[in-house]
Amino acid sequence: MTKTLITGANKGLGFETARRLIAAGHTVYLGSRDADRGRRAAEQLGARLVVLDVTDDASVAAAAKTIEADGGLDVLINNAGIEGRTPDGGVIGAAEVTADMMREVFETNVFGVVRVTHAFLPLLRRSAAPVVVNVSSGLASLERVSTPDTPTHGYPGLAYPASKTTVNMVTVQYAKAFPEMRINAVEPGYTATDLNAHTGHQTVEEGAEIIVRMAQVGPDGPTGGYFDIEGRLPW
Ligand SMILES: NC(=O)c1ccc[n+]([C@@H]2O[C@H](COP(=O)([O-])OP(=O)(O)OC[C@H]3O[C@@H](n4cnc5c(N)ncnc54)[C@H](OP(=O)(O)O)[C@@H]3O)[C@@H](O)[C@H]2O)c1
Repeated sequence: MTKTLITGANKGLGFETARRLIAAGHTVYLGSRDADRGRRAAEQLGARLVVLDVTDDASVAAAAKTIEADGGLDVLINNAGIEGRTPDGGVIGAAEVTADMMREVFETNVFGVVRVTHAFLPLLRRSAAPVVVNVSSGLASLERVSTPDTPTHGYPGLAYPASKTTVNMVTVQYAKAFPEMRINAVEPGYTATDLNAHTGHQTVEEGAEIIVRMAQVGPDGPTGGYFDIEGRLPW
């Protein structure tokens, strides 16, 4: 049975992805940085809870040890992410962003992906069909963000898009380094979750579709790509 870890799966897109992959027959390790929130979500879905904070080396190492002892891992979904808004929910624009704010976003969205991937690489390398899905964003696309008169162009924040563009680069470089794995970045689309105070126009069912699809890609499937539900996206 395919064993799958999803980071940040106690709610939002990660939770919905867990639900769908369990229905598809995966054994899902539901990653949550908070044990209580994670336990409630895991019980609801029939997933196995793994307490995992992607910004914490010890937490990630402990999660890898637990899953290794349980028999290994086939699919890693790096889903945990933050946008880094102001306390009243506003997007932090270019004039306001500081290096510290940017570091906080990168700590989760970028270094978290590297920390978790690095820790689970030995397990994935032992899988017969290893897969990594990095949950990126449409805001990662330099082409889209620089094309006037698009919603993506209008986004004023700096840290979040920069972090997701970095996720795309990390995806490409990992994919080249591990050609035996399928490693892709995905853009779920603008989805109503806590991340954006539920302003997204898609449901989590719609948003999770590309994550679920790329988690199930076979050994002949693409690697090193950047996809949404319609297909490949421009970098
Ligand atoms: N929603 C969208 O429109 C959209 C569009 C494109 C891409 N995305 C990406 O999709 C992914 C999921 O976001 P979402 O929309 O589902 O947001 P969400 O509902 O806010 O869920 C984010 C998840 O990440 C977890 N998380 C945050 N920091 C973490 C950490 N340090 N360690 C472990 N888990 C952590 C959160 O846990 P807590 O509950 O403990 O905070 C939560 O489970 C993110 O990578 C996001 O950038 C979202």
